Amino acid sequence: MTSLVPTYKNLDFYPNVSASTKRYETLLTKFSEKFQKSHLFLARAPGRVNLIGDHIDYVFFSSLPMAIEADVVAAVGIRDDNVVNVVNTDGKYGPATFSLPKDSLLAIGKGEFHWTNYVKCGFLVAAKFLHEHHKKSYHEIKGVDVIYDGTVPTGGGLSSSAAISVCSALLFLRANGIEEITKLDLTAITVVSEHYLGVNTGGMDQCASIYGEFGKALLVHYQPQIYGEIFTFPVVKPDDMVLLISNTLVEANKFETAPVNYNLRVVEFAIAAELLAKRTGLKLEENSNLDCGTFRGFMDTYCETKLGWKKWDGHDIDQAIKMFNKMLELTEELYSEDERSGFSTELAASELGLSVDDFTKRYLTKFQVKYDKLKLYIRTKHVYSEALNVFRVLKLLSSEPTPTFLNDLGSIINDSQYCLQNLVNNSTQEIETVCKVALANGSYGSRVTGAGFGGSVVHVTDAGKVEGLKKALIEQYYEVKFPGITKEILDTALVITKPSAGASIVEI
Ligand code: GLA
Repeated sequence: MTSLVPTYKNLDFYPNVSASTKRYETLLTKFSEKFQKSHLFLARAPGRVNLIGDHIDYVFFSSLPMAIEADVVAAVGIRDDNVVNVVNTDGKYGPATFSLPKDSLLAIGKGEFHWTNYVKCGFLVAAKFLHEHHKKSYHEIKGVDVIYDGTVPTGGGLSSSAAISVCSALLFLRANGIEEITKLDLTAITVVSEHYLGVNTGGMDQCASIYGEFGKALLVHYQPQIYGEIFTFPVVKPDDMVLLISNTLVEANKFETAPVNYNLRVVEFAIAAELLAKRTGLKLEENSNLDCGTFRGFMDTYCETKLGWKKWDGHDIDQAIKMFNKMLELTEELYSEDERSGFSTELAASELGLSVDDFTKRYLTKFQVKYDKLKLYIRTKHVYSEALNVFRVLKLLSSEPTPTFLNDLGSIINDSQYCLQNLVNNSTQEIETVCKVALANGSYGSRVTGAGFGGSVVHVTDAGKVEGLKKALIEQYYEVKFPGITKEILDTALVITKPSAGASIVEI
């Protein structure tokens, strides 16, 4: 819990040191050409892939992500004034210059989207931390010259946004004198960064980007505080299991579609958790991002007060499985057939004993959302099923390995995809095609990873099957959907991934 964000003096933490060395040399040359001085240090933060447990972090249920090798690296120079110059090595992403305000927080433009908004989010949360925890007044905070180089695909569902904002927060803290920071603090600071852009994210991405360790799996806990627990995959033949990521190359823009996709799910989950509480006569702690009750809060309260079960510590696997199954049973009991297709605003408000005005104030004003019906029943089923899927995987990992390990894991991964497709509705035709082709050609289990609505699919396969799987995806998905697609694009779209090192400062 108290481990520090590392500072590396070389690039040995990358699997391919020589390619990384070239990349860093090019970046540093660009820095000195652009700013006519040498950099002082670098900061980096990786993207992530989530093996299982999506759309449950913002209701405080654990997920199993890992940091990936693709990352955002920034070379930094510190300025004496409050000016910030931001450049990207990729000309597609234009530069920006702005001044840090002397007496208030950085304003992030709500108008047209610019990639540097993620930089600003990172700076903003870091500046708040400097002010609130290190008593720095805003006029003392220094600006930076910084050049970014990113390899996490934008909109690929692999958390390019978290990589930029974590990297930005880290470099900004370091530039302003914070030489040591715990992973716990950096996670706590950055989990809210994207909220300033109007996306009500849950924290899994930032936590994975910070806690990732080479070759290790990660279990993210959200209560009582968000942190990553590192463990080793106890697989039968460890070299045999291969995780392949395939980017559908259909961008998932969490920011632009938030009112009908991501933020709407957050709102529906809050309403649904409070409806369960209302129907069982319970009052929930209002500790979610929306200041409402959560599904975790409901489950804990119900099992303790109504069933007299001992308090769950968030770790006990058997107890978790028992509790999630109980919640799934209860969901069937508490929703009538008619309600399963969805609730109008009026119906949801009256079922919660609220006027439409009060309902709107409570759930619909903090983040803008748009919907025809609130799908409370299927969202509830998703959360408890997907939280159960995570603990089914943990149970499998903690049991004696068997020859059917990959089939067993794959089948839970497929159950998770079923939930995402049918209960969260974050799938796309492209995701479904990729899963179908993969399952027929060597994948044990395939699921969309992260927020969905586009982006990437993660496949569980083995060393003997991975080449055939890639070939089938190329022939039956990529070359059909994108005729003439180049080898270069395919190489970045289909990536074998291993758990990689989390965020760090690099001094070279
Ligand atoms: C995005 C969010 C995360 C999480 C996932 C879905 O990546 O940033 O907080 O909610 O979607 O699991």
